Amino acid sequence: MSESLIDAADAVRAKAYAPYSNFQVGAAIRSVEGNVHLGCNVENVAYPEGTCAEAGAIAAMIASGDTKIAEIAVIAQASAPVPPCGGCRQKIAEFASGDVVVTMATTSGETLSMTVAELLPGRFDAGHMDASEART
Ligand code: THU
Repeated sequence: MSESLIDAADAVRAKAYAPYSNFQVGAAIRSVEGNVHLGCNVENVAYPEGTCAEAGAIAAMIASGDTKIAEIAVIAQASAPVPPCGGCRQKIAEFASGDVVVTMATTSGETLSMTVAELLPGRFDAGHMDASEART
């Protein structure tokens, strides 16, 4: 994981809109195409309508025309590196192979790196919709 990707995630973290949790999160994706895409959490007074930093970075990547995640960094001010929520794990897995590294970081410099496969074992994928074995 390059330091610069963590730094990019930290810079966008400062822009997060998190007045309800007061927990700002930043995410930075380096795409296979070679670009960096940023996202931060954006909360809403209707709490479930808020979006995570990872989802924002994925949306920025897709909107740019890039299609695949090469690596991703997520950062928050916390006592330990903050892992992506369950929904974000599935969102990341949509655009990343299992060996892609997700680096979780704290603003004080602690990091934890795990692969997408480690974060989401047994994930749902298109193969599970194979109709040949479907019950009638
Ligand atoms: N959050 C993220 O943006 N990413 C994570 O990986 C964990 C949680 C946000 C969602 C919400 O705005 C706040 O952090 C508290 O859960």
